[in-house]
Amino acid sequence: MIRRIIKQGDPLLEQVCAPVTEFDERLARVLDDMHETLDKAEGVGLAGPQIGYMRRVFIMHLGEGVRVEAINPKIVKTYGRQEVKEGCLSVPDTWGIVIRPKKCKLRAQNRHGEWYTLVLKDLGAQCACHENDHLDGHLFIEKVERLIDPEEAQA
Ligand code: CO
Repeated sequence: MIRRIIKQGDPLLEQVCAPVTEFDERLARVLDDMHETLDKAEGVGLAGPQIGYMRRVFIMHLGEGVRVEAINPKIVKTYGRQEVKEGCLSVPDTWGIVIRPKKCKLRAQNRHGEWYTLVLKDLGAQCACHENDHLDGHLFIEKVERLIDPEEAQA
């Protein structure tokens, strides 16, 4: 089921999310809905609070069928830096330049509760950090070095 994506200004986007404790059918359904919602929005990442699910969950669609589900995630290590163009499905029509790590090590659980470690770089590292910030109530606009206009964002 496609869920409505909550927009900037909604207090839910400013809250700290609680850990997931039940790896059950409900969690599986939320994750499936998040994938469907992200496909429809043609985005790269989506965090639980963006659909009003106030738990520590995010997903990423990194191209070529690479789909990541991160539950109770932690960015355990970061490497280097990259200056990137960034936007957010909860902040429509707004893009900015943000400094993110070039690489990061993500530790998280899958939908069955099993822990895994994933090393991400470039877009993957950018996206994981962006989505992880959502779980602590932070939006990318707090980190923007400068806003850019839509034409520059496409380039
Ligand atoms: Co976002």
